[in-house]
Amino acid sequence: MSTNLNSTTSVTQKVSWKSRILHFLKGLLAPVEKTGDLLIAQVTDMHIGITDAPYRNIPVRQQFLDVLQVLAQRPIDLLVISGDLAAVAGEPEAYAWLKQSLATFPHPYVVMAGNHDHLGRLTQTFELPVEDVKDGMLYFSRTLKGRHLFFLDSSSYRLPLAQMDWLQAQLARVTEEVLLFIHHPPLLCECRFMDERYALQNIGEVWPILVQLPQVKHIFCGHYHTEKTVSKEGKTVYLTPSTIFQIDTQSPYFVMASTQPGWRIIEWKGTQVHTYVEYL
Ligand SMILES: [Fe+2]
Repeated sequence: MSTNLNSTTSVTQKVSWKSRILHFLKGLLAPVEKTGDLLIAQVTDMHIGITDAPYRNIPVRQQFLDVLQVLAQRPIDLLVISGDLAAVAGEPEAYAWLKQSLATFPHPYVVMAGNHDHLGRLTQTFELPVEDVKDGMLYFSRTLKGRHLFFLDSSSYRLPLAQMDWLQAQLARVTEEVLLFIHHPPLLCECRFMDERYALQNIGEVWPILVQLPQVKHIFCGHYHTEKTVSKEGKTVYLTPSTIFQIDTQSPYFVMASTQPGWRIIEWKGTQVHTYVEYL
C-alpha cells in the first residue's frame, strides 16, 4: 500500500514536472499579442446646438461635419471625442444629431464627458457600455493593437479620487507606456481666461498622483479651446483646439482668437508618440 502510494506520488511528480515543462514551452511558442502602430484623431469641444442655426455667425454643425469628412479619409484606428459635445448642458437634440452624423463615419470612436455634457443622455444616445459608467461617472479604458488608452471624466470640474484610485489599480498591471485622455487639463497652462475661471478644481490632488505614474507620459485634453503643449515633471499635457472657436490665451477676459476648427492627430509608432494639430 505504502509502495503504491510512493509510486503514485513519484508518477504524479514526474507528470507534474513534465506538465510544467510543457506549459513553459507552450508559453514560449504561444503568439504574444504584438503592439502595433496606432493612429488616433482627437476632436473636442464641438458645442453642438439644438438646431442648425449658427452661433455668433459660426456654422457650428457644418464645421464639425467638415472636420469629420477630413478624418473619414484618414486611416485612423480611433477617433476620440473628448467632451463638451453639447452647446450648454447636454441637449438631447445635439446628441441625436451627433450620433446620426457619426453613423457613417468609417472608423471606431469613443465619447467622453465634458462639463457641458449630461451623462445620462450621453450614455443613452450613444448606447455606451454599462461597464464604462461607474458611480455616475464615465471613465474607462480601451486596448487597441496591444496598447492601452485610458479615459477619465472631469465633467464635474474635478477628478474624483475614485477615478484616480481606479487608474492606479489599472496601471498596477501595466508596465508599458499608456495614453491618458481627460477633458480638463490637470494643471494650469498659462491660458489666462481659462486658468483663472475654468480650471480643474482639484489639480492639487490629481497632479501629484499623475506624477507618480511612470506609464503616463502623454496626457491629451480639451476644454481650453486652444492648441498648446505644456511639459512638467516628466509629463506632457497637450491641449487640443475646439471645432467651434479658439480662445485667446493672453487675455484675462473671454476673447475669441479664431473660428477656425482644429483637431489633433496622435501617431504612436514603436515607442514614439508624435502628435500635432491640424486646422481646416
Ligand atoms: Fe469644457
